[in-house]
Amino acid sequence: MTHHASRMQPHRLVRLGLGIIAASAVFGTAVAPAAFAQTLPGQSTSVAAQTDTGLSPTTVGQTTSVQALTLAETEGPYYKTNSPETSSLVQPGLQGTVLTLTGQVLDQGGQPVAHALLDFWQADAGGAYDNTGYTLRGHQYTDANGSYTVTTVVPGLYPGRTRHIHVKVQAPSSSVLTTQLFFPGEAGNSRDSIFDPSLLLNITNNADGTQSATFNFVVATA
Ligand SMILES: [Fe+2]
Repeated sequence: MTHHASRMQPHRLVRLGLGIIAASAVFGTAVAPAAFAQTLPGQSTSVAAQTDTGLSPTTVGQTTSVQALTLAETEGPYYKTNSPETSSLVQPGLQGTVLTLTGQVLDQGGQPVAHALLDFWQADAGGAYDNTGYTLRGHQYTDANGSYTVTTVVPGLYPGRTRHIHVKVQAPSSSVLTTQLFFPGEAGNSRDSIFDPSLLLNITNNADGTQSATFNFVVATA
């Protein structure tokens, strides 16, 4: 019923890994650019030049342009393969506040990833997943600018979890990112150990009663 049972250890490992990467980047930028560069294949030429000239603005720019990968989260128990290809998860008769989520899929250099796969699934406004059909489930591909738009409804709450939308994101010929998106201002966020502030949607309340949200994913690319 909840996602808690099998989640704890992998989640902790992912966070530890990101922490090490972040710490390395900071240390490498400030103190030892040559040592940091040695961990990145293909930069040996620039490292040799830096030995004589010290830390250059170019090196700082290269280091800080590496964006952190979007945090992975547990899949949970309700994912189904073979969702329909659609950018609208809203079907006739579906209750709830309409939510239009837009954003881009980016690589770690900040460049858009075209034809990346996004597969969304979520609870309905009452907190229930459709595990027999494909209501509120759908996949799509980013356009040439790495952009996506999905129209859905604000998911309801179910026991044990704060409000969230599940998604898998995959750049062409690359590994799959499985994660969850969260809503700001939710009382349940601080009580949900899966919650992470880096996965918060940026929400706008529209005059017509609908909501708009944005989120950009940073994913590994081949
Ligand atoms: Fe869920």
